[in-house]
Amino acid sequence: METVNLPENGVLFCWKSPSNIALIKYWGKKGNQVPANASLSMTLSEAYTITQLRARNNKKGAGPEVTFRFEGALNNEFGVRIESFIKSVMPWFSFPKDVLLEIESGNNFPHSAGIASSASSMSALSLCLCSLENWFTGGSDETSDFFRKASFISRIGSGSACRSVYGKMAVWGGHQAVDGSHDEYAVPTSFDLHPVFDDLLDTVLIVDPGKKKVSSSIGHNLMKDHAFAEARYHQANANLTSLLLALKQGDWNAFALIVENEALSLHAMMMTSIPGYLLMHPNTLSIIERITEYRKQTGARVCYTLDAGPNIHLLYPKSAENEAGILIKELKNYCYKEYIIEDSMGKGPEKLKCR
Ligand code: DP6
Repeated sequence: METVNLPENGVLFCWKSPSNIALIKYWGKKGNQVPANASLSMTLSEAYTITQLRARNNKKGAGPEVTFRFEGALNNEFGVRIESFIKSVMPWFSFPKDVLLEIESGNNFPHSAGIASSASSMSALSLCLCSLENWFTGGSDETSDFFRKASFISRIGSGSACRSVYGKMAVWGGHQAVDGSHDEYAVPTSFDLHPVFDDLLDTVLIVDPGKKKVSSSIGHNLMKDHAFAEARYHQANANLTSLLLALKQGDWNAFALIVENEALSLHAMMMTSIPGYLLMHPNTLSIIERITEYRKQTGARVCYTLDAGPNIHLLYPKSAENEAGILIKELKNYCYKEYIIEDSMGKGPEKLKCR
């Protein structure tokens, strides 16, 4: 495609895309953003990014050029990273290279919430880029091919982002128990979740809202020479098989056992890397102990998972909301300024009308 035929004011696209929390963790990669094991995540509803992309002709003829505004202000640091991401994915797009891309982005969750924003931001941006391609090709933004491509592109930006383009739950990484699963993009779970899991709630208990000490990319890298790497990849793939069964059968106890095993295994990998490091804080451990104790005492359907940080995601079905509420009231004491975020399983990204 040689000539760019964009209108004077350019064309505008806007997507809202959520974050996700992995239940089976992606930790370790091979090659270019290829996961060492398959992962499964729950898409969130309340933690999302809204990204607007305006594409104009770039008369300089210098390939894609990017300006980036984050939460209303020009942000050159992010802008440089985003421009380099966009350049890296250009080979997969059939729209003309000489475009000026004016990108504006914002999260609805506070910057300091300790929630990873790369999943929501990279997926929102990738959806906008795929919509731009469709503007040129006349394709539809509603087909499964569209979302598959958006997932593929999101993955290049951040692995976990590729799962955010689908609602409810998504699997990324080839796995024999998931038809159509692939290392280069995520797929939505194709079966109906048992009603126990159809209205999952997630209360994020913010132990520390600060930036984590060791980034996920360093963590992934440390898996390369990790003594337990192969055992971990095997464990994750086996856990995925068992989790899929629990999700279909409505087996809460099996679900809790697997999800907590994944959370602790992720952090065990960090502790036993060389050099090892700890992202959990003393209050993270206190919360874990208390959740386990409370479940034992009351039989309440509550369990926890962790991201690569000190904060806890407390998971429970809507039917356990009252018991979870009593526990959360107590757990707030271990949180930073009693800070919690109420979230739930969400429907996935949404194309918005542009302002
Ligand atoms: C612990 O997706 O942030 O959240 O691909 O390098 O961007 P990059 O890593 P990233 O890693 C996420 C790790 C995790 C587990 C998960 O989401 O599966």
